[in-house]
Amino acid sequence: MRVRHARGEYEVRFCPLADALADLGPAPWTITDEKVAAALAPVLPEGGERIAVGPGERSKSLATYERCVRWLSDQGADRNATIIALGGGVVGDLAGFVAATYMRGVRLIQIPTSLMAQVDSAIGGKVALDLQQGKNLIGSFHAPAEVRIAVEALATLEPRHFVNGMAEVLKYGFILEPHLVEVCLRDTLHAGHAELEAIVRRCVELKAHVVQEDEFEVAGTRAILNFGHTIGHAVEAATGYGPILHGEAVAIGMVVEAVLGERIGITELGVAAQVRIALETYGLPTRLTGAAPSALIDAIRRDKKRRGGALAFSLLTRIGECKLVSDVPESEVLGLMNG
Ligand SMILES: NC(=O)c1ccc[n+]([C@@H]2O[C@H](COP(=O)([O-])OP(=O)(O)OC[C@H]3O[C@@H](n4cnc5c(N)ncnc54)[C@H](O)[C@@H]3O)[C@@H](O)[C@H]2O)c1
Ligand SMILES: [Zn+2]
Repeated sequence: MRVRHARGEYEVRFCPLADALADLGPAPWTITDEKVAAALAPVLPEGGERIAVGPGERSKSLATYERCVRWLSDQGADRNATIIALGGGVVGDLAGFVAATYMRGVRLIQIPTSLMAQVDSAIGGKVALDLQQGKNLIGSFHAPAEVRIAVEALATLEPRHFVNGMAEVLKYGFILEPHLVEVCLRDTLHAGHAELEAIVRRCVELKAHVVQEDEFEVAGTRAILNFGHTIGHAVEAATGYGPILHGEAVAIGMVVEAVLGERIGITELGVAAQVRIALETYGLPTRLTGAAPSALIDAIRRDKKRRGGALAFSLLTRIGECKLVSDVPESEVLGLMNG
């Protein structure tokens, strides 16, 4: 599958893991994390330049970024280097930002190994680091030269992280494709499931289609992917980024935003219940427990300030259809924060 972007296009290839890790070009520099390196140790090629950062969101930091670029420089990586991002969304965003900036930009190959990274973060060219002040506050657009997806790599992913990625899979169904929701509910998906590759492929097609239309988020249409994310980000911020994973926070956000949509007359009645049931089938959280209402309200207000005063949402009209609503009254949103 090919994805168009401003400077050309890239190939997203589904292949066995051994093929994904082979033929990386003349000067591959792999950035991975320690957990991924251990899990994939039996199949990782011998030798080659590789750095493993600590696993988890904390590695999307300026400190880890500095460690990576110093490593590249110390080892003699030049402008012909290709950065290989081998890991979940954290590695993809970190290594992607390294590739976007090292020597003003070098080639990047994304080899996503978590479900979240395969269906979402490896596609679309957004790369970022976090600051203490907030997530993804430093970032860029840096399209990869290639994306190689080996669904087989998901076999070693912890179940909680598999389920975390399912929140984004279901999101694509909720906003764009009712059939995808039906397939996910017909039979509970897991890492070895026969239909998993077809589902990951469909998610990639849907995301590629949306980002091709609005790569740099100027037309606004890319923002439909943010369903569940306005509240989801507030949940992550209010709980200090960590105890609730991104997909889990988005699951809560999707239910709250579906309820919000129903209250303001955008979403058909009954849709919020369908969204909740689908997410609960996978064991995803759907209630605003664990975050203090006052902290959620603060986070929403901070986000609103950052975006210039408007509370914008991607809201469902029904399952499989959504629209952008930019003028949701703050009072309606705050009213939902008490549980
Ligand atoms: N750039 C984008 O468009 C975009 C989109 C969505 C999410 N993101 C970012 O992605 C990040 C979340 O990604 P994530 O959920 O993949 O988190 P992650 O990268 O932390 O991976 C989750 C955990 O699974 C482990 N892991 C990954 N692959 C494995 C494998 N095959 N076997 C065993 N363990 C494995 C990792 O070591 C980690 O502990 C967030 O920082 C989020 O902001 C970016
Ligand atoms: Zn997301």
